[in-house]
Amino acid sequence: MGSNGNREQVDEVGIFFEALWRDYVEMTPRVAKIRSLFSEDNPALTNDHVAFRTFDCEPIGLERLERHFLSMGYRRLAPYHFVEKKLDAWGYVPQDPEQPRVFLSALRVGELSAQARGIIERLCASIDPARIEDRSVFHAGVLWSMPSWEEYQLLQAESDYAAWLAAIGLRANHFTISVNSLRSPNTLEGVIERVEAAGFSMNSAGGKLRGSPLEGLEQASTLADRIRVRFGDGSEREIPSCYYEFARRHPGPDGELFSGFVAASADRIFESTHNPDDLTGKRT
Ligand code: NI
Repeated sequence: MGSNGNREQVDEVGIFFEALWRDYVEMTPRVAKIRSLFSEDNPALTNDHVAFRTFDCEPIGLERLERHFLSMGYRRLAPYHFVEKKLDAWGYVPQDPEQPRVFLSALRVGELSAQARGIIERLCASIDPARIEDRSVFHAGVLWSMPSWEEYQLLQAESDYAAWLAAIGLRANHFTISVNSLRSPNTLEGVIERVEAAGFSMNSAGGKLRGSPLEGLEQASTLADRIRVRFGDGSEREIPSCYYEFARRHPGPDGELFSGFVAASADRIFESTHNPDDLTGKRT
């Protein structure tokens, strides 16, 4: 501990997360305002975790991408599966507890229709594999030519996640404020109140507050911001970009704070990037 090598790695990881944050704010301008609602009276504010999305297609499959986190000293914690959403995910914990955890999920493309699969396989096949070698790939955005608006809609009809990833690309899907790092408010209810009082909408799919002290983790998220993008056919549309999350961890029977993720809560949080019209509907 405290050796030069260690300090260099901490700096390197810090620089990586700063670059991620800059890209995320550009995609999601309201997060800077939301953060300032808390950072002003909570100078010790930290991030609980940062989440990323990918396709289980080469060259951007989980194994290839996770290497970057393993090389930054992260270790795999536990796998998660979301059958209905066709997702597999891993949680990773950092060496330095001041750094955020990482949640990396991947869509099982083989379970989509032949048409949707064809679109995604085309996008993945056009990626320059050399691009994946650098950890900046995590804020590279779209690594392929943009799909057409029609293709986006086709993907969205099957998987909101697929459409989001095809048009938004590899970058932080959300950062998560650690409510444990706040002095005030120090409950998730208090956090939600402050965010809503400032005029921002929370994702209420399955209730605004997900999880429980008994599960070790309570979470809430805002609805995704919206951003105007140009599709491959030249049309410009406004689509959901990224959102902000809040997490409060609770101690287990051993007195240690729970460190993992709760699949049932994450399942609904994925829906933060749904179109508003969908949130009241029955869709999965
Ligand atoms: Ni999350």
